[in-house]
Parts: sequence; C-alpha cells; structure tokens
Amino acid sequence: MSYPTDMQASLAKVEASRQNRLHQTFPKLSPEERDHILHRYHPDYISEAFREIRVGPNKGDRAPVELVNILESPPILTLDEDNPHLSQLEADSVCDVLVIGGGGAGASAALLAQENGADVLICTKLRFGDANTMMAQGGIQAADKENDSPAIHYLDVMGGGGFACNPDLVEALVMDAPKVIAWLESLGVMFDKESDGTMRTIHGGGTSRKRMHAARDYTGAEIMRTLRDEVRSRAAEHPSIRVWEFRPVIELLLDEQGHIAGALLKDLDTSRLMVVRARAVVIATGGSGRLHYQGFPTTNHYGATGDGLVLAYRVGARLAFIDTMQYHPTGAAFPEQIVGQLVTEKVRGLGAQICNVDGEQFVYPLETRDVESAAFIRECVERKRGVVTSTGQAGVWLDAPMIDQLKGPGTIARELPAMVRQFHRFGIDLVHEPILVYPTLHYQNGGVAIKPDGGTSIPGLYVAGEAAGGIHGRNRLMGNSLLDICVFGRRAGAAAASWSGFAQAGIPTLAHLDEWKRFRQEAGLSDGSSSPVILPDYTRKISVPLHEEELSMMETGGI
Ligand code: FUM
Repeated sequence: MSYPTDMQASLAKVEASRQNRLHQTFPKLSPEERDHILHRYHPDYISEAFREIRVGPNKGDRAPVELVNILESPPILTLDEDNPHLSQLEADSVCDVLVIGGGGAGASAALLAQENGADVLICTKLRFGDANTMMAQGGIQAADKENDSPAIHYLDVMGGGGFACNPDLVEALVMDAPKVIAWLESLGVMFDKESDGTMRTIHGGGTSRKRMHAARDYTGAEIMRTLRDEVRSRAAEHPSIRVWEFRPVIELLLDEQGHIAGALLKDLDTSRLMVVRARAVVIATGGSGRLHYQGFPTTNHYGATGDGLVLAYRVGARLAFIDTMQYHPTGAAFPEQIVGQLVTEKVRGLGAQICNVDGEQFVYPLETRDVESAAFIRECVERKRGVVTSTGQAGVWLDAPMIDQLKGPGTIARELPAMVRQFHRFGIDLVHEPILVYPTLHYQNGGVAIKPDGGTSIPGLYVAGEAAGGIHGRNRLMGNSLLDICVFGRRAGAAAASWSGFAQAGIPTLAHLDEWKRFRQEAGLSDGSSSPVILPDYTRKISVPLHEEELSMMETGGI
C-alpha cells in the first residue's frame, strides 16, 4: 500500500462507501448556495489579500497584492544605463509583427500573421513551448455536435463567468470554436475519436453539453506539439517566420504618436539588451501563477510571472478582471513532491466523485471551478473534515477508481495515461486508489482588456491567451483556455498583420518610462524591485542570525 498508515483509515472509508455512491451523485448547489459559498470561502474574497493600485490606467482598482507589487514597480531598465543601443534604439532586428511568448497563443498568432503576409518574429523567455499550453490536460471545448450549438456554449461560458464576461469576446470564442478544432486537426492534432470516427466528447464543470474534445489527458501537449512543429517547419522554409528563445521582452517601445514601434529584449545567455523594431506586437506571455498569490502552489509553468500584464500596463493599456484568479479544485495534495500539480478535471468528467475524511460526498463533482474549490476549502478549513497529511497539507479524496466501475475496466488507463504515470512514480495506483487533492492556483481569469480582434487601446498592440482579459469574466470553464489561445491567437495574429501592412513605422522611443517615473513619484512610490519579473525567485532566504560556525562554513564554501 502506497499511502502512510495514518491515511489508511480514511482511505478504507472511501472504499467502503464506493458501492453505495456509484449511482448517487451529490446534488448541485442552488444559485444562492453557490453565491454564499463563494463569498465565504473562495480566495478571491479574502480582502486582506488585495490592495488598491496607485499608478497607471487601473489606478484605484483592487488586485492581489503580489500582482499590484509588480504592476507598480519601476522598470528593469535605468534610462541612464550605459548601453549604446539606448541612445538611438538602434535595431538588432526588424519585423512586421513581433510575437512575445512561445505558447499556444503565440504560435497561433505567428502562424496567422505569417499567412496574412507579415514578416514575423517570435521571442520567448524560455524554450519555444515552455508554456501553460503544454501543461493543459483535460481538453478543449467546441460546440460541434448535433445536440449542441455555439449559442448553448455561449450561455455556459456566461454562466460560468458569473455573467460578467464581455459578450462580444464570448461570441468570438464560441463561434470560432468548431473552426479551431478543424484547423487543429488539419495541422495534425490527434483528437480522441469513437470507432465510427466521430469525436469523443465529455462534460467539464459547468458545461450543459458534452463538448470537451481531448487527446487523452495531454491535450495541451498535443496541441503545442502540433503548433510548434508547424511554426518550425514553416521557419525552416521561409525567412518570414523566426523564433528567438531565451530572449524575454523587458519593455515595449512606442513611437512619438504613441503607437507600438517594437520592444526591448534581454538575451538571457549574454545579458545583452536587444532592440526589435516592429509595427505590431502580440503579447502572448500567459499567466502569473508563479507569483503564488496568497501562498498557493500552482499548476503553472516556471515562466508564468505575469510579464505581459506589466509590459502592456506600463504603456497605458487597461487591465480587466485582474481581481480574480482561478484555483483549480484538484491540485495534488499528496505526495509532498507534487503538491499543487494539476490533476485534470477530466477525472471528474469521467465520473470520479469527491469524498471527505469519512468517505462521504459533500459536493457535486462538476460545479464550476470557483464553487468546487470553495467547497473543498470549507470542508477542510471550517468543517475540519479534510485529511491532513504528515506535512500539514489538507486535502479531500478524489475517488478515481470508480471510473472503471462506471465506464468499464481499462477506461482509466486509456483516458488518463499521464495521470496514471504521474502517480505511479510515487507508488500510487490511480486505477485502484483514490488520490488526495486540494485547490491550486491555476489561471488568471483577467488580463489586458481586448477587443474581439485581440486589439487594445494602444495602436499596434494585440494580446491573446491568458494575458488577455474579459473573455471568462470571473471564472473560466475547463477547456475554454485551450480554445481561447487558438481563437484569439489567430485573430490577434491576423489583425496584427493587417495593421502592420498600413501602419507607418515611427521612431521607437522609451519616452513612456519618463512618464511612468513621474506617475510613480506623484504617487509617492519608492524604488523597490523592478518588473517584469522574468523568473520566479526560489532561492532560500536566510532569515535567522547565523552562528559563528555557520559563518565560517560559508567563508570556506561549506554552505
Ligand atoms: O483540468 C484540466 O484538465 C484543466 C483544463 C483547463 O484548465 O482548461
């Protein structure tokens, strides 16, 4: 048995209650109950974790403290820096469309920009494909079955987002969805299919139809593989699409009219600053889970530090819904090595239920993520009916083994191979054993306010993917992120190409930084850490006074 003895009594209760639970799903909460549970237990409602923004277009709005800190920060660049480029912003490279970010949104934008005649450069701070797209598991939504329609999908998205979503963006999302699935398939994505060739689709939390298309439980990796291959193969054939890795953008450049004119990059290998002149920029930098809001662990990739929000904000773009983050209900809570990693919602989509320490269901398994997470937190924190591991991590049981009993032996192995492998590494057998889960920081619901073509209030600046805000309101449904990166990546790429076709190339400047400095001074902000963050800092901070022995070990290199 892979679980420690102190967890086994509770596990036995989950196993004992399984037969009775197999055909008894816990009822859904009423709208009033959902509202109540959100306000009492969801981290978005912990007011001490938020503060007012003191500078920039969203001045006066509230956002998580960690995010406000980086939005208000001084730039990395000091204008008096002794760098030959900075006096005249001499270009290291020129392109029509600069795409910042090498995930699914960036790749989609680059492909469409190139198809629409632009000369495209993708620059990314890590490797091409190091992105949340790669880590997305459960699926991508599209209403392309007979019992479904974009209108029904629209209603689900609006309801899931607390009716706060921007209707024009939701319309774009759901109307383009079937086209996106066909596009991905034409590029080579291998979606799961029934034996008659039709797409296999299941439910996600908050969906009223089975419209989740998947490639087992590595849908994001399959989509990213395909998009990256397509970019790479076009790049090998045409000079009109290029990829630069390990070169994050640290500042956008505007011309004298306030239009986008390019970006300033930092080469991580040499630390050299580089100037790219571009008529249009697409920000596709993803989310900010690595800011670890309220100390939560995250499902996000290492580079998810909210850089795009900072870059856009500093040139004057407004942000939307940045006071709301998504906590995925089923982050791994055991073993310690993988705390916070994603356990796909597909596990619940296939029928697995949630149980407390006594093996009792306490919530409908497919409530929207915000409600489901809040219910887990209530069960553990207030009702004290969670399981607590030896490291003090609380969690509830996700009863995965019931999937094979409901859907037939072999279903788990076939549908969830990545999950099976992930837990097998730690001696846990997902086919036969429940797993312990607790909410983990998963997604930035808001971002830079965009229009349906990905455009912003800054001429020439487009945003797509998790860095964009307004599509999902206050809560995104599963499978609408892989969808939105493609829908708005494609739209932003095409619109950026079109803009770059007629925009005049102005002279790039960093004048907005003078203005930023003035705003900060007026707000009385002192100099602190600069932003964008680029990479999270996990170095151990020594906060206790050192003993003489330790000091001498440091001097001799022993620590
Ligand atoms: O649970 C999941 O597989 C995550 C999917 C998503 O965030 O869309």
